[in-house]
Amino acid sequence: MTAPSAPAAGRMAAVNEMTRLLRLLFEVEREFVRTASTLVPRVGEPELKYLVCQHVWESAGHARFLRERGRELTTFGATDAVRDSLRRIFAEAAGTAAADPLVIAAGFYGVLQPALLAAYRHYLRVTDPLADWPSKKLVEEFIRDGERQQREIAPYLRGVDAQAWSAHLAEALGELGGWLGQEPRRPLPAGYAWSHERTPYTHPATCNRRPYPVCSSVFGFDPQQDPIIRPWLTDPQTDARVIRLMVYVWLMMEMDAIDYLATVFIETPGAPFDLHYDLARHLWDESRHSQFGFRQLPKLGVDLQTVEHSLDLYHILIQMPPHERYAMMTMEFEANSFPTKATVMDRVRELNDFEADTLLAFDRNDEQNHVRYGHRWLPEMMALFGETRPVEEFVQATREKFTALAKIHGGQVPHSLPASRRLTGEKIRQLAGVA
Ligand SMILES: [Fe+2]
Ligand SMILES: [Fe+2]
Repeated sequence: MTAPSAPAAGRMAAVNEMTRLLRLLFEVEREFVRTASTLVPRVGEPELKYLVCQHVWESAGHARFLRERGRELTTFGATDAVRDSLRRIFAEAAGTAAADPLVIAAGFYGVLQPALLAAYRHYLRVTDPLADWPSKKLVEEFIRDGERQQREIAPYLRGVDAQAWSAHLAEALGELGGWLGQEPRRPLPAGYAWSHERTPYTHPATCNRRPYPVCSSVFGFDPQQDPIIRPWLTDPQTDARVIRLMVYVWLMMEMDAIDYLATVFIETPGAPFDLHYDLARHLWDESRHSQFGFRQLPKLGVDLQTVEHSLDLYHILIQMPPHERYAMMTMEFEANSFPTKATVMDRVRELNDFEADTLLAFDRNDEQNHVRYGHRWLPEMMALFGETRPVEEFVQATREKFTALAKIHGGQVPHSLPASRRLTGEKIRQLAGVA
């Protein structure tokens, strides 16, 4: 941050004070993105995963607008860095992989977010509504978002006993006097133990999909066993109604992408904010793609409790460092998905199902952006991890590593359901009304 000379600082004191608060708010929103994203693979309920993805995206948006406004003011600072005093509270809030994910969620939404709302309200009270109208407008909108987010999350946290954990986090926040230091500071109790210093957060070895049944993969070749029969997707003989059902299962399983992409934020604390911003958008896009399937399948007669969730991709990718995970996602899975999806889209269009066409077209558009993000950010992510090989060479080596890891960590999840109960290619044909 630039240190203004004494007379200039005096002259601009009113602006500088509000800039100082905007800077803190930016850092808080950006840390929420970095750490609340760890909830995604830990909570099971798909609707809750989707909601957290949406909130993470909204926080990324808040941070971006705060930074944009902050940069109009001279002392905001040129870097995206977050101070340690804030960072350690968010690191604490992320908890450990062993903790109850709903208790962790209650910490974020029951302590840290209400404190952020209080900080925004404080900002409105202390700023000049006319002189600082541009900030006021943003802050009013962020308060509305935060209040809505509180209402949206409430049903998931009802009955969760998070008292002890919430008190623990409130103590850490109390030492700062709230996010803006706007309240009296309370020293940490003697013997206060920062749990993340003892047990830093690590990703769970498996992603939570309770209460749904699970399996290794939904892609296969056996209509008696698997729901998405690979050759059927591109076989001109396949009935378009069968293809539509299979592609909805495929879309719903982008839940995989949500779970493994969400792991990248916390492991890249040194990333520029713009990287996390695009990652947050990517995450939210995938959560909407998964919702396409999750919402459409029941309308076509599928009981979601018969659709097993595939865990292989998470299990394999979590063995790799974040830049390799991101490389596989953008440069392999997404970059190579276009030809098959194009064929699928053309077949689905035979059905005159405007909704399906719309969902698939937006999916395709989003995916093109994701590959662009990959080209933009993979080299930067590689640099964060000291990877110096040319991108192409690195991607090729990562593909080979993935194949080797798949042999060890793939195919390990037994079917939750017997073939007679789970959704399979054969059942899809029946549901589609194909004789
Ligand atoms: Fe997607
Ligand atoms: Fe994608």
